[in-house]
Amino acid sequence: MKFTLTAKDKLSKARAGTLETDHGTIQTPIFMPVGTAGTVKAVHQRELMADIEAQIILGNTYHLYLRPGLNTIEQAGGLHKFNGWDKPILTDSGGYQVYSLTDVRKIKEEGVTFRSHIDGSKHLFTPENVMDTQRIIGADIIMAFDECTPYPCDYHYARRSLDMTHRWLKRCCDRFDSTGPKYGYDQTLFPIVQGSVYKDLRMKSAEVIASFEREGNAIGGLSVGEPAEEMYAMTEIVCDILPEQKPRYLMGVGTPINILENIALGIDMFDCVMPTRNARNGMLFTADGVMNMRNEKWKNDFSPIDASSDLWVDQQHSKAYLRHLIASGEMLGAQIASLHNLHFYLWLVNTAREKIISGEFYEWKKQMVGRLGQKL
Ligand code: GUN
Repeated sequence: MKFTLTAKDKLSKARAGTLETDHGTIQTPIFMPVGTAGTVKAVHQRELMADIEAQIILGNTYHLYLRPGLNTIEQAGGLHKFNGWDKPILTDSGGYQVYSLTDVRKIKEEGVTFRSHIDGSKHLFTPENVMDTQRIIGADIIMAFDECTPYPCDYHYARRSLDMTHRWLKRCCDRFDSTGPKYGYDQTLFPIVQGSVYKDLRMKSAEVIASFEREGNAIGGLSVGEPAEEMYAMTEIVCDILPEQKPRYLMGVGTPINILENIALGIDMFDCVMPTRNARNGMLFTADGVMNMRNEKWKNDFSPIDASSDLWVDQQHSKAYLRHLIASGEMLGAQIASLHNLHFYLWLVNTAREKIISGEFYEWKKQMVGRLGQKL
């Protein structure tokens, strides 16, 4: 993997870069659509490529390990072959899903035991077996096994958890470095900064994570319920410590405004379920704010879904039609809304990149943050 910085904004810490992987080049800043179970919900791979021009998608170790299981993915020749997506893939380690999706779990030094949310079966994730699992899934970028602390989280818990996440990271690196890629292309491991909302813990974690000298670094444990200002404060502290020449990935963030503010603080990569999950609930993101498509006010509005967008469905279909589909629970409603939201998120990061390169990012961001906060 090779990361090259192309441009830096003068009035903020925003940067534009390129990230080269064996499955293709990613232009940063980038948003990565979430494809939890090997599918971006309600969006076909062909649409991801042709309409949205997604450059990389996410998969989840937790879900793929439980279903379809490693045997199937390995026999298919890895996730790229299995789901027919031959561009880059990043997998999360399960270090978030085991905490958010399972209610029966035990966290010990060895790892985490949990019960499957599907059938109640018992499993153990350790730093070592999560590395092996992600090698088998075959993602280009794989994530360290960590503990994502909840919010609020008391200081002593956050500190103890952080120390364990760092010890787990050493075990992740040892295992990852002593095993090779499974399918002939390169895989790289990103460690994850934790530390809840505590400045000293975040600084310490960023220093430890940087000392591992991996090819990219991630920030976790944010967007878990803390006020946005606290999230930005943590991102800023951490970005000042993480090496400039390596990509920085902020996990699970966020709203369009969160994304622009964090780009301004030096983040290069984002993922979030928000565009797809909210779409399925009838919420659309646009440059002029959010639209609730269940609202009666769209019932007879035959104007295009988004006149400013060049996405085919945004021009072809009216607000009234989309409202009808969503109000009726039609599957096509979820499909159109998901396409729209992902296209908008990609437009947002692509435009941010253009503005960083042209030197207009700071002013543009200020103006966009005002627009994006509106309710239509
Ligand atoms: N996704 C969102 N936040 C986190 C985090 O803290 N850790 C992991 N592994 N995944 C995440």
